[in-house]
Amino acid sequence: MDKLLAARTEFSRKDAKKLIWTGRVRHNGKIAVSPDAKVDLEKDTLELDGKMLLIKEHLYLMMNKPAGVLSAARDPKQPTVLDLVPAEYRRTGLFPAGRLDKDTEGFVLITDDGDFAHRILAPKKHVPKTYHARIDGPVTEQMLQGFAEGVQLEDETEPCLPAQLRLLQEGDEPLCEVVLTQGMFHQVKRMFLAYGRRVLWLKRVAMGGLVLDENLASGQCREILDKEIEMLLGKI
Ligand code: URA
Repeated sequence: MDKLLAARTEFSRKDAKKLIWTGRVRHNGKIAVSPDAKVDLEKDTLELDGKMLLIKEHLYLMMNKPAGVLSAARDPKQPTVLDLVPAEYRRTGLFPAGRLDKDTEGFVLITDDGDFAHRILAPKKHVPKTYHARIDGPVTEQMLQGFAEGVQLEDETEPCLPAQLRLLQEGDEPLCEVVLTQGMFHQVKRMFLAYGRRVLWLKRVAMGGLVLDENLASGQCREILDKEIEMLLGKI
Protein backbone atom coordinates (compact mmCIF):
# COMPACT_ATOMS: atom_id res chain seq x y z
CA MET A 1 0.00 0.00 0.00
CA ASP A 2 2.80 2.47 0.78
CA LYS A 3 4.38 1.85 -2.62
CA LEU A 4 1.07 2.47 -4.39
CA LEU A 5 0.38 5.60 -2.35
CA ALA A 6 3.79 7.00 -3.26
CA ALA A 7 3.20 6.28 -6.96
CA ARG A 8 -0.26 7.84 -7.04
CA THR A 9 0.49 10.97 -5.00
CA GLU A 10 3.40 13.32 -4.60
CA PHE A 11 4.39 11.77 -1.26
CA SER A 12 7.59 9.74 -0.87
CA ARG A 13 7.43 6.12 0.19
CA LYS A 14 8.57 7.12 3.69
CA ASP A 15 5.85 9.76 3.98
CA ALA A 16 3.29 7.33 2.59
CA LYS A 17 4.07 4.96 5.48
CA LYS A 18 3.60 7.81 7.95
CA LEU A 19 0.24 8.68 6.39
CA ILE A 20 -0.88 5.11 7.00
CA TRP A 21 0.48 4.95 10.56
CA THR A 22 -1.24 8.20 11.46
CA GLY A 23 -4.62 6.96 10.27
CA ARG A 24 -5.03 9.30 7.30
CA VAL A 25 -5.62 6.50 4.78
CA ARG A 26 -8.76 4.42 4.34
CA HIS A 27 -8.71 1.12 2.49
CA ASN A 28 -12.17 0.04 1.27
CA GLY A 29 -13.70 2.46 3.74
CA LYS A 30 -11.78 1.29 6.82
CA ILE A 31 -8.79 3.02 8.37
CA ALA A 32 -5.66 1.35 7.01
CA VAL A 33 -3.18 0.05 9.56
CA SER A 34 -0.36 -1.60 7.63
CA PRO A 35 1.82 -0.23 4.81
CA ASP A 36 2.30 -3.86 3.73
CA ALA A 37 -1.39 -4.44 2.96
CA LYS A 38 -2.10 -5.67 -0.60
CA VAL A 39 -4.32 -3.45 -2.73
CA ASP A 40 -6.35 -4.71 -5.68
CA LEU A 41 -6.10 -1.98 -8.34
CA GLU A 42 -9.32 -3.05 -10.01
CA LYS A 43 -11.63 -3.49 -7.04
CA ASP A 44 -10.29 -1.68 -3.98
CA THR A 45 -10.65 1.96 -2.96
CA LEU A 46 -8.10 4.11 -1.18
CA GLU A 47 -8.87 7.45 0.44
CA LEU A 48 -6.41 9.97 1.73
CA ASP A 49 -7.81 12.48 4.23
CA GLY A 50 -11.29 11.51 3.02
CA LYS A 51 -10.50 12.09 -0.66
CA MET A 52 -10.72 9.15 -3.05
CA LEU A 53 -7.47 8.37 -4.89
CA LEU A 54 -7.37 7.22 -8.51
CA ILE A 55 -5.43 4.01 -8.07
CA LYS A 56 -5.97 2.27 -11.39
CA GLU A 57 -2.87 1.37 -13.32
CA HIS A 58 -2.89 4.11 -15.92
CA LEU A 59 -4.39 7.56 -16.21
CA TYR A 60 -5.35 9.30 -19.45
CA LEU A 61 -6.16 12.99 -19.36
CA MET A 62 -7.48 15.33 -22.03
CA MET A 63 -6.21 18.86 -21.52
CA ASN A 64 -7.25 22.04 -23.27
CA LYS A 65 -3.80 23.63 -23.39
CA PRO A 66 -3.71 27.41 -23.27
CA ALA A 67 -1.33 29.37 -25.50
CA GLY A 68 1.85 30.33 -23.62
CA VAL A 69 2.26 26.99 -21.83
CA LEU A 70 4.86 24.39 -22.85
CA SER A 71 3.72 20.86 -23.65
CA ALA A 72 6.75 19.44 -21.85
CA ALA A 73 6.97 17.54 -18.58
CA ARG A 74 8.74 20.15 -16.45
CA ASP A 75 10.63 23.32 -17.19
CA PRO A 76 12.66 25.33 -14.70
CA LYS A 77 11.51 28.68 -16.11
CA GLN A 78 8.24 28.34 -17.96
CA PRO A 79 4.82 26.91 -17.07
CA THR A 80 4.09 23.47 -18.54
CA VAL A 81 0.92 21.46 -19.05
CA LEU A 82 1.90 19.27 -16.07
CA ASP A 83 1.85 22.35 -13.81
CA LEU A 84 -1.83 22.72 -14.75
CA VAL A 85 -2.82 19.17 -13.76
CA PRO A 86 -4.96 19.35 -10.58
CA ALA A 87 -3.73 17.58 -7.43
CA GLU A 88 -6.19 14.69 -7.65
CA TYR A 89 -4.71 13.60 -10.99
CA ARG A 90 -1.04 14.02 -10.11
CA ARG A 91 0.96 10.81 -10.04
CA THR A 92 4.41 9.52 -10.86
CA GLY A 93 5.30 9.22 -14.53
CA LEU A 94 2.77 11.60 -16.13
CA PHE A 95 3.91 13.21 -19.36
CA PRO A 96 2.31 14.88 -22.39
CA ALA A 97 2.05 12.44 -25.31
CA GLY A 98 3.18 14.57 -28.23
CA ARG A 99 3.94 18.23 -28.49
CA LEU A 100 2.12 21.37 -29.44
CA ASP A 101 4.02 24.60 -30.00
CA LYS A 102 4.00 27.02 -27.08
CA ASP A 103 1.59 29.33 -28.92
CA THR A 104 -0.73 26.48 -30.03
CA GLU A 105 -3.89 25.74 -28.02
CA GLY A 106 -6.06 22.71 -27.61
CA PHE A 107 -6.01 18.96 -27.13
CA VAL A 108 -2.99 17.55 -25.32
CA LEU A 109 -3.13 14.00 -24.05
CA ILE A 110 -1.38 13.48 -20.73
CA THR A 111 -0.73 9.97 -19.51
CA ASP A 112 1.60 7.68 -17.56
CA ASP A 113 1.19 4.90 -20.13
CA GLY A 114 4.28 4.88 -22.35
CA ASP A 115 3.06 2.04 -24.59
CA PHE A 116 -0.18 3.84 -25.29
CA ALA A 117 1.62 7.11 -26.06
CA HIS A 118 3.80 5.24 -28.50
CA ARG A 119 0.74 3.76 -30.21
CA ILE A 120 -0.85 7.14 -30.86
CA LEU A 121 2.38 8.91 -31.79
CA ALA A 122 4.22 6.32 -33.87
CA PRO A 123 4.42 7.72 -37.42
CA LYS A 124 3.38 4.35 -38.86
CA LYS A 125 0.10 4.34 -36.93
CA HIS A 126 -1.12 7.50 -38.67
CA VAL A 127 -3.56 8.50 -35.94
CA PRO A 128 -5.06 11.65 -37.50
CA LYS A 129 -4.76 14.96 -35.64
CA THR A 130 -7.27 17.70 -36.48
CA TYR A 131 -6.38 21.39 -36.21
CA HIS A 132 -8.26 24.64 -36.63
CA ALA A 133 -6.11 27.44 -37.99
CA ARG A 134 -6.72 31.09 -38.73
CA ILE A 135 -4.47 32.29 -41.54
CA ASP A 136 -3.56 35.69 -43.00
CA GLY A 137 -4.86 35.32 -46.56
CA PRO A 138 -7.29 33.44 -48.80
CA VAL A 139 -7.39 29.68 -49.27
CA THR A 140 -6.71 29.01 -52.95
CA GLU A 141 -7.51 26.10 -55.22
CA GLN A 142 -3.76 25.48 -55.44
CA MET A 143 -3.54 25.10 -51.64
CA LEU A 144 -6.49 22.70 -51.49
CA GLN A 145 -4.92 20.56 -54.18
CA GLY A 146 -1.41 20.84 -52.73
CA PHE A 147 -2.49 19.77 -49.22
CA ALA A 148 -4.39 16.80 -50.70
CA GLU A 149 -1.39 15.68 -52.72
CA GLY A 150 1.30 16.32 -50.08
CA VAL A 151 2.98 19.68 -49.47
CA GLN A 152 6.69 19.99 -50.18
CA LEU A 153 8.18 21.83 -47.19
CA GLU A 154 11.32 23.89 -47.38
CA ASP A 155 14.37 22.01 -46.02
CA GLU A 156 12.72 18.59 -46.42
CA THR A 157 13.60 16.02 -49.03
CA GLU A 158 10.25 14.22 -49.07
CA PRO A 159 6.83 15.86 -49.41
CA CYS A 160 4.38 15.58 -46.49
CA LEU A 161 1.76 12.86 -46.52
CA PRO A 162 -1.57 13.93 -48.04
CA ALA A 163 -3.57 16.09 -45.62
CA GLN A 164 -7.11 17.42 -45.63
CA LEU A 165 -7.66 21.15 -45.86
CA ARG A 166 -11.17 22.56 -45.50
CA LEU A 167 -12.34 26.16 -45.40
CA LEU A 168 -14.60 26.67 -42.36
CA GLN A 169 -15.10 30.43 -42.52
CA GLU A 170 -14.23 32.90 -45.27
CA GLY A 171 -12.87 36.38 -44.69
CA ASP A 172 -9.63 38.36 -44.63
CA GLU A 173 -8.36 35.91 -42.03
CA PRO A 174 -10.09 32.66 -42.99
CA LEU A 175 -10.60 29.80 -40.55
CA CYS A 176 -9.50 26.39 -41.85
CA GLU A 177 -9.54 22.81 -40.71
CA VAL A 178 -6.43 20.71 -41.32
CA VAL A 179 -6.20 16.98 -40.70
CA LEU A 180 -2.69 15.51 -40.53
CA THR A 181 -1.53 11.94 -40.11
CA GLN A 182 2.04 13.00 -39.36
CA GLY A 183 3.58 15.16 -36.68
CA MET A 184 6.53 17.02 -38.13
CA PHE A 185 8.00 20.02 -36.32
CA HIS A 186 5.74 23.10 -36.83
CA GLN A 187 4.02 21.12 -39.57
CA VAL A 188 0.77 23.08 -39.96
CA LYS A 189 2.58 26.41 -39.91
CA ARG A 190 5.17 25.24 -42.42
CA MET A 191 2.54 23.78 -44.74
CA PHE A 192 0.72 27.10 -44.92
CA LEU A 193 4.02 28.94 -45.25
CA ALA A 194 4.76 26.89 -48.38
CA TYR A 195 1.89 28.94 -49.90
CA GLY A 196 2.95 32.24 -48.35
CA ARG A 197 0.36 32.13 -45.55
CA ARG A 198 1.10 32.77 -41.92
CA VAL A 199 -0.83 30.97 -39.18
CA LEU A 200 -2.27 33.59 -36.82
CA TRP A 201 -3.94 31.16 -34.40
CA LEU A 202 -3.77 27.37 -34.10
CA LYS A 203 -5.74 24.89 -32.02
CA ARG A 204 -5.75 21.08 -32.00
CA VAL A 205 -9.38 20.03 -31.79
CA ALA A 206 -9.23 16.23 -32.14
CA MET A 207 -6.94 13.21 -31.98
CA GLY A 208 -8.14 10.15 -33.86
CA GLY A 209 -11.93 10.04 -33.46
CA LEU A 210 -11.84 11.81 -30.10
CA VAL A 211 -12.87 15.47 -30.15
CA LEU A 212 -11.66 17.95 -27.51
CA ASP A 213 -14.45 18.35 -24.94
CA GLU A 214 -15.92 21.80 -25.51
CA ASN A 215 -16.82 22.04 -21.81
CA LEU A 216 -13.14 22.17 -20.91
CA ALA A 217 -12.12 25.77 -20.37
CA SER A 218 -8.62 26.75 -21.37
CA GLY A 219 -6.15 25.12 -18.95
CA GLN A 220 -8.62 22.52 -17.66
CA CYS A 221 -8.34 18.77 -18.01
CA ARG A 222 -10.48 15.71 -17.39
CA GLU A 223 -10.07 11.98 -17.46
CA ILE A 224 -10.54 10.19 -20.78
CA LEU A 225 -13.11 7.38 -20.49
CA ASP A 226 -12.42 3.82 -21.62
CA LYS A 227 -14.74 4.11 -24.58
CA GLU A 228 -13.07 7.35 -25.62
CA ILE A 229 -9.71 5.57 -25.69
CA GLU A 230 -11.17 3.32 -28.37
CA MET A 231 -12.34 6.40 -30.27
CA LEU A 232 -8.87 7.87 -30.03
CA LEU A 233 -7.39 4.79 -31.59
CA GLY A 234 -10.08 4.87 -34.26
CA LYS A 235 -11.65 1.50 -33.44
CA ILE A 236 -15.19 2.88 -33.27
N1 URA B 1 1.62 22.16 -36.34
C1 URA B 1 2.22 23.29 -35.92
O1 URA B 1 2.74 24.07 -36.71
N2 URA B 1 2.24 23.54 -34.60
C2 URA B 1 1.68 22.73 -33.67
O2 URA B 1 1.72 23.04 -32.49
C3 URA B 1 1.07 21.56 -34.13
C4 URA B 1 1.05 21.29 -35.47
